[in-house]
Amino acid sequence: MKRIAVMTSGGDAPGMNAAVRAVVRAGLDKGVEVYGIRQAYQGLLAGDMALLSSREVSGILQRGGTVLQTARNEAFKTAQGQMKGQRRLNENGIEGVIVIGGDGSLRGALALHNVGVPVIGIPASIDNDIWGTDTSIGVDTALNTILDAVDRLRDTATSHNRAFVVEVMGRDCGYLAVMAGILGGAEIVVTPENGVTMNEIAVSLEDAYIRGKTHAIAVLAEGAPYQGPELAHYLEQKHIGFEIRLTILGHTQRGGSPTAFDRLLATRMGVYAMELLLNGESGKMVARIGREQTPIPLAEATARTRQITPEYFDLARILSR
Ligand code: F6P
Repeated sequence: MKRIAVMTSGGDAPGMNAAVRAVVRAGLDKGVEVYGIRQAYQGLLAGDMALLSSREVSGILQRGGTVLQTARNEAFKTAQGQMKGQRRLNENGIEGVIVIGGDGSLRGALALHNVGVPVIGIPASIDNDIWGTDTSIGVDTALNTILDAVDRLRDTATSHNRAFVVEVMGRDCGYLAVMAGILGGAEIVVTPENGVTMNEIAVSLEDAYIRGKTHAIAVLAEGAPYQGPELAHYLEQKHIGFEIRLTILGHTQRGGSPTAFDRLLATRMGVYAMELLLNGESGKMVARIGREQTPIPLAEATARTRQITPEYFDLARILSR
């Protein structure tokens, strides 16, 4: 292979830039040109791609977001879109693609593989919902951002005898919520998976008040059956002792400079993805299992959603006393 392309797709995740840089420099090391596709599958369909030099990926290692930009695209989900994508790659002499993104983006990568384009996927999504890998690019940074916010909220909560509802991201997966609950010292965590009711939250927060706590925190995943404003209103009506405040962290969780862990993860995955492509592999995703990286079929990684280890729900409960 003499020319490949790289794209970042779906929701941006801190560390995507570090992965792009690693792909480009690993390519240069092997005498392979790397093109950057702008705005993911949307850019692919428009033929929006250009050669990336080593200098063009200088100074991006520490930057959040993605210099290639990203998009969520419907047109690529059709057979017609996929064939058009393949044609655009051929027009530019591109022999393989590395896709950096979350579950939807990896499904796109699998579709490209199925029409005959050599493809390797790299998991990147703050949600940590990608099956087959212990973690994905961006998870560690997002979690640290959330913890910073929870720590700050506890300072002000304690000063006023308040309970905070903190809503965190994670569309279908409560990983960020449950980890933020354990590591941020929350009284209770609600995720799409654990079925905690609003009444159970009220009981738990009231119990904390009766036991003399000066603050209480409930972490709510955005994919939970009810949203932050509804929960905060419910708790206010219940008069649980604490005054109630709500903070929705939103997209603050997606931005910011990647942690050392995410930079290393992204760098290793980028170099390894290039190695796999040059070794003739396709239709695979780089997975991190333990401390090692290994290729797993994209078909497997995209067929399921990663589940939260049940032990974490126990930890969150045990430590909330
Ligand atoms: O998948 C990452 C994620 O941040 C989810 O946690 C969230 O539900 C979604 O993306 C938000 O998407 P958008 O940025 O398109 O609003």
